[in-house]
Amino acid sequence: MADIFKIAILPGDGIGPEVMKQAIKILEKIEKYITKKIVIDTYTVGGAAINLYGNPLPKKTLYGCEKSDAILFGSVGGSEWDYLPLNKRPEKGSLLKLRKHFNLFANIRPSFFYKDLSILSPLKEKILNKGFDIICIRELTGGIYFGLPNGRKGKGIDEYAFDTEIYSRFEIERIAHIAFNIALKRKKKICSIDKANVLNTSILWREVLTDISKQYISVKLEHMYIDNAVMQLMKNPSQFDVILCSNLFGDIISDQCAMISGSVGNLPSASFNQNYFGLYEPSGGSAPNIAGKNIANPIAQILSLAMLIEYSLKERNISQKIKNAIQKILNLGYRTKDLFTNSKNEKIITTDDMGTLIMESII
Ligand code: IPM
Ligand code: MN
Repeated sequence: MADIFKIAILPGDGIGPEVMKQAIKILEKIEKYITKKIVIDTYTVGGAAINLYGNPLPKKTLYGCEKSDAILFGSVGGSEWDYLPLNKRPEKGSLLKLRKHFNLFANIRPSFFYKDLSILSPLKEKILNKGFDIICIRELTGGIYFGLPNGRKGKGIDEYAFDTEIYSRFEIERIAHIAFNIALKRKKKICSIDKANVLNTSILWREVLTDISKQYISVKLEHMYIDNAVMQLMKNPSQFDVILCSNLFGDIISDQCAMISGSVGNLPSASFNQNYFGLYEPSGGSAPNIAGKNIANPIAQILSLAMLIEYSLKERNISQKIKNAIQKILNLGYRTKDLFTNSKNEKIITTDDMGTLIMESII
């Protein structure tokens, strides 16, 4: 009997369920090539779980994730739940809780662009011609997202709100090692983003990075202020390879990396803890405005599955088969609405058809 590999499926809100359905189609198709026996269990999360159980992360969901070998996450959130206090909303109440609970401190967000889709990028052709292939590594369980104290106090004109940015040497060191190890397998260069001209946390960040770099002498470490980094990314993204950021800066920079690639609908992400337990999710959000219309782009969700297969199942070839199938379908001109540019050979297709076509192209 083959080993069992359990995947917890958390579709969530907005376009989450419909794009997840496409990823499951792919999983069912490639299952037979995987040496382990795949078992999937679906759990409710986010706003959907608030509506059903009054809790964005029900015990059953958390328990289901705990007994799994990996989590495939859709997306959570929507204006429907904006009336709730921050901690009870889908984003903080489920996604951030899962990140913290499983100690998923290392978030990997690749950003690349398909040549066929370069017209979607807001960057000029002469900039895109140089190409880019960036991995944004974001610290995911520390910094201002989780620092205490935070909250609101006072009343009337004296009311104030506060958050705390805090990083320990330990937290910076462990994400630094992840970045250096990834850089070793790529172009051996890291650009670390900070605001060391203003923030104490950034000064420590820079110091620790410089210390750790001595253990990786073949990797070139560069530091860049966040304000300059967002400019450089517009001006010449080809200068970057591995970008390392704190939680907040990584949130910002990874969206920018996604946008210059043309569409957030195409980019996956993976989050790991020290044991390489992983949660895989699309980089884009729940897009409630287009939910339920069968027009959302399922590629980011399918690529998140491909990352799971590569990193958690260690089946690189199968992951590559999925990526090739996506490339093939895009080459043939098939586009979900978000990718449609009206150029010749393009055909608009639904979420469902995109999933099926990719599935059928896997060889
Ligand atoms: C992301 C998202 C989340 C974040 C939100 C939904 C809490 O924007 O994964 O980038 O800020 O981390
Ligand atoms: Mn974000």
